[in-house]
Amino acid sequence: MASLASLAPELLLLVADRLHNIEDYSALSSTCKYLRTTLQSVSPNIILRLANNQSRIFFRPSPEFLVAATARQLGEWARLDPANEATLAVAFQNGVDGMLDLALIHCGLTMPRIRQLHALRFSVINPVTDIIDQCVGQQWYSTPNFWDGGVDDAYTIDADPNTTFFHLAIYGELFAPDLAAYLDGNATHRPLSVETRLEFIKYCVPDFACELRGSINPRDAHLPNGELDPRRAVKPVGPYARNEDNSYAEFPKNNNIALVWVLQSTRWRPHWRNLRQRVAVDFQDGFEDDWWYDGGEGRDWRQRLWENVMVCQGLEGLGMIRPEMQDEWLEKIRGWREKVAALERTPGETWVGRHCTYDYPFLLGDLRICASGYVGGT
Ligand SMILES: *[C@@H]1O[C@H](CO)[C@@H](O)[C@H](O)[C@H]1NC(C)=O
Ligand SMILES: *[C@@H]1O[C@H](CO)[C@@H](O)[C@H](O)[C@H]1NC(C)=O
Ligand SMILES: *[C@@H]1O[C@H](CO)[C@@H](O)[C@H](O)[C@H]1NC(C)=O
Repeated sequence: MASLASLAPELLLLVADRLHNIEDYSALSSTCKYLRTTLQSVSPNIILRLANNQSRIFFRPSPEFLVAATARQLGEWARLDPANEATLAVAFQNGVDGMLDLALIHCGLTMPRIRQLHALRFSVINPVTDIIDQCVGQQWYSTPNFWDGGVDDAYTIDADPNTTFFHLAIYGELFAPDLAAYLDGNATHRPLSVETRLEFIKYCVPDFACELRGSINPRDAHLPNGELDPRRAVKPVGPYARNEDNSYAEFPKNNNIALVWVLQSTRWRPHWRNLRQRVAVDFQDGFEDDWWYDGGEGRDWRQRLWENVMVCQGLEGLGMIRPEMQDEWLEKIRGWREKVAALERTPGETWVGRHCTYDYPFLLGDLRICASGYVGGT
């Protein structure tokens, strides 16, 4: 190390370029003050690449963890230019792996951010995953008399709560800036399109319920020429890739359905309701979305928007439901409510078959469009 410390900064940065992983980088940085200071100018993109080299050790689940860590930057990059957004939409077809490939080109991480991310593991990721497990995981399935009234939403769902947590976090990281601009009425902001959002849901929250096989029949989702609406159609690529005998290369789990079940769960919603009640009264008492939602009937769009904004704030945002972390969010939640209250027009709707979503990033609507025809055949 003594000889490394005698290298000029430019040469040292070349050495950093040849490092293999984040552990080497860390070790090298901690050998002496000169190395630490100099290595601080290694680009965030290289730090991300080094982290990716050890994603299976330090950033699990892989690649979801690093995708969540970079999704906000990736979304910002995509909003710069319609061509970027088109590139992102194509990358989605390779699932979260496709997102990571693009992030490795256009995004970066810093060591302070990596330390924050690791702290989130204990403050947010593990405890919220535990709640998700109560909604769609082992704890849910272990409820006594599961199928006979033990839970109010018994269903067959093949999901992994660890991954479901990250799907929710990644959606928020990608689309929260569009929600903010929607609430602010910021006309200079170019949001990602509904079509881009649906591509994300189909391929990055993959679910065999999204593929059209057997009895899965999304009604009214066909074009006049008989073809399936491309916004609902799923190609046999990425998470849906097939072997030669047409079996799945890797069977996609119920990631979409799991997320829908979480958002509607009576073991999930009270955490958010209690938090809202610390701030203000609901726009609509007893508001509840369900799978059958087919428009605004009987449901207050302001309530839906406020709840959606809260749950779609990304990784840090999911800490909102932890009582010990709530205080820092109260002002924001109050601000969102005020902005929602001040909106004059009903959000614009986009219909695909019998399901609809909004022009703002509406997670539940996006999910249901992409799995339409699976639950109850609608
Ligand atoms: C890690 O990073 C280095 C340098 O960027 C690269 O040459 C190497 O192939 C990567 N993979 C592994 C497993 O080290
Ligand atoms: C999440 O992953 C960790 C580490 O692999 C595992 O110990 C834990 O049981 C998983 N949690 C759930 C709810 O599946
Ligand atoms: C409006 O959106 C643009 C583009 O995203 C952003 O640069 C700007 O800061 C936003 N303005 C406000 C007032 O938030």
